[in-house]
Amino acid sequence: MGERIYLDNASTTFPKPAAVPETMVRYMTVAGTNIGRGDYSSAFDVEDAVFCARERLCGLLGGEDPSQVVFTRNVTESLNLVLKGYLRPGDHVVVSSMEHNAVMRPLSQLAELGVRVDRAECSPTGELDPACVERLIEPCTRLVLTTHASNVCGTVLPIERIAEVCRAHGVRYVVDAAQTAGVLPIDAAGWGIDVVCFTGHKGLLGPQGVGGAVFCNGFASEINALVAGGTGSSSDLERMPAFMPDRLEAGTPNLPGIIGLGAALVWIEERGIDAIREHELALTGRLIGGLAELEDAGKVRVVGKKSLEGRTGVVSIQTPGRELAEVAHELDARHGIQVRVGLHCAPSAHRTLGTFPTGTIRFSVGWANTEDDVDAALAALREILA
Ligand SMILES: Cc1ncc(COP(=O)(O)O)c(C=O)c1O
Repeated sequence: MGERIYLDNASTTFPKPAAVPETMVRYMTVAGTNIGRGDYSSAFDVEDAVFCARERLCGLLGGEDPSQVVFTRNVTESLNLVLKGYLRPGDHVVVSSMEHNAVMRPLSQLAELGVRVDRAECSPTGELDPACVERLIEPCTRLVLTTHASNVCGTVLPIERIAEVCRAHGVRYVVDAAQTAGVLPIDAAGWGIDVVCFTGHKGLLGPQGVGGAVFCNGFASEINALVAGGTGSSSDLERMPAFMPDRLEAGTPNLPGIIGLGAALVWIEERGIDAIREHELALTGRLIGGLAELEDAGKVRVVGKKSLEGRTGVVSIQTPGRELAEVAHELDARHGIQVRVGLHCAPSAHRTLGTFPTGTIRFSVGWANTEDDVDAALAALREILA
């Protein structure tokens, strides 16, 4: 592959810290054993590594107890687990209008079975007033689900205040932290959130194929397992064990993935989430500043908030008079700049932001990007749009 500048970290972060692939290779070439299914020392080492990853996730995301951290393949599976394991026909759900299809598609399936869904409308910059959520809560509302930050424009939703509304009404609150785990501080138990769903390969800097959910307030005991099967525990029973995390985890997990994620979590702890965020926000500010000049010249429209407050490093634009796909293609083909174009699996968010059905070109910075990367992207845009 030739020279490239990767600015698609909202899709998946790249590169990963070196310790991530190194630890995965070591597991696969040296330890290599399964978990909970062998009584020999390397099996205990794997058990230990998986438990440490649970502990670190519990600490990072503000869980109550590592046993309440469940591993899945990704946040999509975590959201399916929670929604399909909890909701019944006749239940009512409130979501924000900024949700990803990882939320809206399982809810569409559940709507066919008689679950009702209402959307709390966000502003044209993706902000949500918790009062909008509160107004939609009915006696049969059993769940509120919102993203923590938009994957289209980076706007952060006030999850702490939404949790307060949910607590006041006795409604369970689910947060999709796909864009914020490892990026923003999250205190699930402290803020009264019932479950934080995460994916390992974005801000958590782990490999693809591992995600999970951090349950609080006894919520996990109200969820039916999405997948049932062997757990390496209570093998005399033909039903799922009642204790966590085995209650919601069946089959051999993605051990290289969990172990790689564990190494990424160590790296994040060492570097510090605040230092990573400060670096990414500085780059985001530089990007928004350069885009504002292009906007003044009528070449681009910046979608969503233009300030650095309450946002992540995800920035979307439109290019009036120029096909987005063509601009994105030129960015890559002529300048090696890799961005994402289209609807980013979030049509509802684009309807809210006024960018449906065209979509946007999305830039998203990561820990490994530099000021030079941002300057190169801006220079390339200036040239393409000249
Ligand atoms: C807000 C949001 N939710 C859910 C997802 C789905 O993530 P995954 O594909 O890792 O399940 C994404 C990823 O693009 C996202 O940005």
